[in-house]
Amino acid sequence: MDLVGFERQADNMTASFIEKIQQKKLVIGVLGIGYVGLPLIVAFAEAGFKTWGFDLNSRTVAQLCGGQSHIGDVASERIQLLQDRGVFDATTDFTRLRECDVAIICVPTPLTETRDPDLTAVRGAAAAIAQSLHEGQLVILESTTYPGTTAEVVRPLLEAQGLTAGQDFFLAFSPERIDPGNKTFPINKVPKVVGGFSPPCLQVARALYDSIVEETVPVSSTQAAELTKLLENIFRSVNIALVNEMALLCDRMNIDVWEVIDAASTKPYGFTRFLPGPGLGGHCIPVDPFYLSWKARQHDFQTHFIELAGEINRAMPHHVVEKIARALNDDGKPIKGTTIALLGMSYKANIGDCRESPSLRVAELLLERGACLCYNDPYVPTVKVSGDAFESQALEEIYQADCVVLLTDHQDYEFDHIASTTRLIVDTRNAFKNVSTPAARIVKL
Ligand SMILES: NC(=O)c1ccc[n+]([C@@H]2O[C@H](COP(=O)([O-])OP(=O)(O)OC[C@H]3O[C@@H](n4cnc5c(N)ncnc54)[C@H](O)[C@@H]3O)[C@@H](O)[C@H]2O)c1
Repeated sequence: MDLVGFERQADNMTASFIEKIQQKKLVIGVLGIGYVGLPLIVAFAEAGFKTWGFDLNSRTVAQLCGGQSHIGDVASERIQLLQDRGVFDATTDFTRLRECDVAIICVPTPLTETRDPDLTAVRGAAAAIAQSLHEGQLVILESTTYPGTTAEVVRPLLEAQGLTAGQDFFLAFSPERIDPGNKTFPINKVPKVVGGFSPPCLQVARALYDSIVEETVPVSSTQAAELTKLLENIFRSVNIALVNEMALLCDRMNIDVWEVIDAASTKPYGFTRFLPGPGLGGHCIPVDPFYLSWKARQHDFQTHFIELAGEINRAMPHHVVEKIARALNDDGKPIKGTTIALLGMSYKANIGDCRESPSLRVAELLLERGACLCYNDPYVPTVKVSGDAFESQALEEIYQADCVVLLTDHQDYEFDHIASTTRLIVDTRNAFKNVSTPAARIVKL
């Protein structure tokens, strides 16, 4: 076929794909049914598309097939309703990707032990799609990753079966910006950035997302879309590190960092409010920036801000432990043998996600120093710290501790009550700021 022939074929493929989107005649496959994958599946299924979730974890799949959601933001009733309508299914059988017109990859992108990108899951998902890749299919990567992954890692795996991206099938990258637990910004309210491997790839991927979100934001390439997501997360990491460093300095200078941030936040322009805390957590902010550092090194470029922010943020759990030690010292107590209770093990408020949680690091450091440790977290029934299993204790038990450390400010906690029932509180979130006459001594971060 000559160039004109190829272009005409591509135009026809694009037009027919967009028609199928409009008629909701597509079957969508989502690989990876986690914090990102499940809300996305539900959004497409609720929009009327048949949507199948694919996962290696047979327990997750069995649970979903039984109508039970494993993700806090998605109620089980929504899953059951979609199952009844025949628009949702979950499976470990990846040969069923053959039924799908769209395959969206939402698998984890962690770091290796040497803090390099670990694309094992992305490669596995792409290889699984390649097995049944067919003409006119749309493949989208949503996992957060370094610029170049879609074109340099995913594309060759897909093309290994003989089809060509942009010519025989569509390929795109669209970062996921979901914020688990955030009720103000559900998936449809967050603009979706989309980059295509070619202009028709962008056109079809945009048209698809236009059916579930209020706004799509096109960019000129998959690389630009990949970097957009990293910039957003690096922006957070660097700014959190800045206020964390301010907190360390304010501690030294005996100035209340929270008061300073509140005052600075009254500036109506040019200042964005970020808050200090016990450190960074979650699957994204502590991890994603290092995807870019790694890629930058291939271009003989050092990402100083990313490294420095990582260093400061990783030091925060040590600072928290130092504050606890100083606070106990004032009561004439050592850490060793003293009962210390941690409030909140998840990395942020009102969810049960403990991935990379700084609370775990604080717990580890306290155990190393011989503390008698207990914790409460209404969202986290059990945790493992340094190989030992711990169970969340009733708050009444927690109040007996020599020192209570507030690490995650869940909405369930009644701060007035805690402050009137305990002796010593180390508050890493300024959660007790409105308690007027606390019985406890409160030490701020
Ligand atoms: N959690 C968030 O808040 C968030 C927000 C934006 C972006 N992201 C990014 O989205 C991606 C997914 O994150 P998540 O939080 O949903 O992860 P998750 O761990 O909650 O879910 C990932 C799922 O993928 C499955 N999986 C692993 N390998 C697979 C494979 N080869 N094929 C099919 N399934 C496979 C796992 O069993 C798991 O169920 C990551 O790149 C993450 O950085 C996450």
